[in-house]
Formats: sequence, structure tokens, C-alpha cells
Amino acid sequence: MPDTVMSQADRLRVIPLGGGFGARIEGLDRSVPADEATRAALMRAFLDHQLLVVPGAPMTPAQMRDFSAIFGEVVPQVLRYKRVGDMPEVSRMESTLKLDGTTDKTAIRAEDWHTDDSYMAIPARGTVLHAHEIPSRGGVTWFCDMYGVYAALPDAIKRRIDGRMAVHGYDTPRARNRPSPRTAQEIAETPDVLHPLVRTHPQTGRKALYVNANRLDRIEGMERAESDSLLDELYAFAKQPRFHHGHRWTVGDAVVWDNRCLMHRVDVDYPPGEPRIMLRTLLRGEKPA
Ligand code: OGA
Ligand code: MN
Repeated sequence: MPDTVMSQADRLRVIPLGGGFGARIEGLDRSVPADEATRAALMRAFLDHQLLVVPGAPMTPAQMRDFSAIFGEVVPQVLRYKRVGDMPEVSRMESTLKLDGTTDKTAIRAEDWHTDDSYMAIPARGTVLHAHEIPSRGGVTWFCDMYGVYAALPDAIKRRIDGRMAVHGYDTPRARNRPSPRTAQEIAETPDVLHPLVRTHPQTGRKALYVNANRLDRIEGMERAESDSLLDELYAFAKQPRFHHGHRWTVGDAVVWDNRCLMHRVDVDYPPGEPRIMLRTLLRGEKPA
């Protein structure tokens, strides 16, 4: 077929990453608006693979917002100081290890396994992260397949968690590091919330373990000691490398992930002083059930 009559969607290639989840998208020009068929194909790929790696040239905040909107409604994130000037839906995430010790707390906390926004009543369905500057080495972002983790859990553990709710908050003493301070308005916006430990994905119907080392404080209706040991057991199970995929960044990459069925973390092992700068958007989710 001559190139000129190939549609946008015909050019799109969805290449599985090979580890049981994740796909690389090729043939997408993010500088032009995506047509209906392309948007539908990308949404299908997002649901089928949970993690999409989309390479391309660095995007402006407006292009980032429009690209992100393919996967859902883009919503502003809680922390105001990260928002990009005139475009509150796009944040600038600087995870540079600063030589003067002023490294952003979000960057440090991202080293532990988490799912974004679980301290919200309606957590983000997905996150889009787009690399503008990356350090010369390190800084791999890791993803954990929580469909796979849930499916592989021993039945005895499934019986202990099925139907259970958990308390998530902006911070918990269980987390290794403290989060960025909130303003009074931001505190008012983020009371503790309850979410099921096992959630059913609203679009695929598949079950996933829904936990977060940074925000999940305790399992409702359990003594603290029992809750702590069960949570430790769940995190130890999810730590198995067979559930993981690591993304090594190239400038211009956009990575889209599904927070309903993946956890993620970053290796904070890159050289201090080398800029690590990303644009970030969050996609409106639905109440976990
Ligand atoms: C995030 C996050 C990890 C990274 O943006 O939510 O956890 O690699 N980022 O910067
Ligand atoms: Mn995160």
C-alpha cells in the first residue's frame, strides 16, 4: 500500500515487551492529534498490556496533555508546587539528586513500591510520565504486575484478604520516608480513605492485589500486629522478580501505566547533580471496588 493512503492507525505497532505485561508502541507521531481509530487502538493496548512505552520527540506541556487524554480525563494533581504554570493538568517532576540536599521528597519516596494516588477516594486510573532530561546512568523505573501477583497468591492468603478493606492515607509510619509537606488546603483534600485489598478492574473485570507501601496504613478490622505481618507477607510475595519489568529511560519516552493493576518504583541510584526531569499527568479513575 502506498504510504500516503496508510491511515494513522495502520502505522501503529503494538510490540509486547515479552515479560507477561507491557508493550512498546511504534509508528505514532505524538505531534499530530490522534484520530478515532488510533485512540481506540491505544486504549485497547493500554487495557491489554497495562504498561505502554511510547518513544518520540520531547513534548510540550500542551502536547503532553493531549497525548495523555487518549487514555482518560487528565486531572490536576494535589501538590500545587509541581503544577506547570498555566496548565494545572501537567506537572513537572524533578527527581534530580541535588548536591545541596534539597532533593524532592516525592523522588525519594518513589523508591518504594507504590501505586499512585491511593490516598485519594478516587485514585488515578493511570499515570503518564515523559522524560525531558535523564541522568547518564541508573534511574530505571520498575513495574509490578498485580494481576499476576493476585493470581499466584496461595489460596490460604487469598482467603485472608478477599473482601477486606484497607486504610490508605497521605502518610503512614509503615513507609520508610516522609512525603512532601501539604498546605492546609491540600491537607483538607486528603483525609484517610478505605479501599478493598483486592480490586476488580472496572474495564477488564480482572482481579488485582491493591496495596501501596507508602500509603497503606492497616487492614481494617485487624489488630495492628496481624495487619503489619500480613502486609509484609504480601509485599514480600510481590517482590519476586518474575512479576517485574524495568524501564530504562531514553529522552522523549512517554510511559503510560495502569495504577489499578500495577505497582511501580524507581531506582534512586543515578549520579547526584545530573538532571532527571519529567512531565507527569494523572488520569481520572473510579472508586476501587
Ligand atoms: C511517579 C513515579 C517514578 C520515576 O511519577 O509517580 O513514581 O521513575 N515516578 O520517576
Ligand atoms: Mn509514583
